[in-house]
Amino acid sequence: MPENTPEYPQAHLPDVPHRRLLEGQVAIVTGANSGIGKAVAISLGGAGANVCVNFVGNPDAAAEVVAEIESHGSKAMVHQADVSKEDQVISMFDDVRAAFGTVDILVNNAGLQQDSKFEDMTLAQWQKVIDVNLTGQFLCAREAVREFKRRGVKPEVSCAAGKIICMSSVHEVIPWGGHVNYAASKGGVMLMMKSIAQEVAPWRIRVNSICPGAIRTPINTGAWDTPEHYAALLKLIPYKRIGEAPEIGRAAVWLASDDSDYIHGISLFVDGGMTLYPGFEAGG
Ligand code: BGC
Repeated sequence: MPENTPEYPQAHLPDVPHRRLLEGQVAIVTGANSGIGKAVAISLGGAGANVCVNFVGNPDAAAEVVAEIESHGSKAMVHQADVSKEDQVISMFDDVRAAFGTVDILVNNAGLQQDSKFEDMTLAQWQKVIDVNLTGQFLCAREAVREFKRRGVKPEVSCAAGKIICMSSVHEVIPWGGHVNYAASKGGVMLMMKSIAQEVAPWRIRVNSICPGAIRTPINTGAWDTPEHYAALLKLIPYKRIGEAPEIGRAAVWLASDDSDYIHGISLFVDGGMTLYPGFEAGG
């Protein structure tokens, strides 16, 4: 990664939030052993939440996330579950209830890419991405809503009965050739999130999405691993730097906290302006 120069400015941010906005709350973060999910789990823990670090592979990485959260004075547990499998999702919620009593926050983060030229895309590639990115979010959100309705509002903890944050993408609105399965899954997340939000609002359950742009994580290494790739990426980002995973963590803490209590059913773009159609700046 280039140094912090005028050409390649870097984000400046603390890894851990200063305020314990989520003290006493319980969060499940899916896909929390790497990338954005890891950063979100650490940020929620730093803000005082007890966190279930869900993962599907690489338990050592999940254990490291737990250790880091515990070092900030919150409790954490690991839970292995494939979010696209109904029985595994139900067991995960049962285990978290047994360990921490309830669930207050779900971050529907687990997601993947299986990229292919459209005519070469296999049904397996299509299905895998839809299963994890869209069906997985459905299954986890459904269990969360069941738990939030069962428990109701506890004003000493939060003014909402529960909060769901769906990890979407700029590609819920930006079409993405070569990634048709991924863009379709995120477009689906957008209207799934908004429809759930409309339905469950009367129970004081808040549902929103975060839509990251290019964030420096393992999922998109090819977009930033060389100066040439990074320069090409910056053409798509008016703010002229890549995003860092803790920046998504900070947005998640805010969306999960009572500071955003009247924010409901929105897609919060955290993208350095990627959705501003750069290119029209000098054209059109
Ligand atoms: C994708 C990344 C990509 C970014 C911006 C994300 O949703 O997972 O691979 O760099 O969108 O295009």
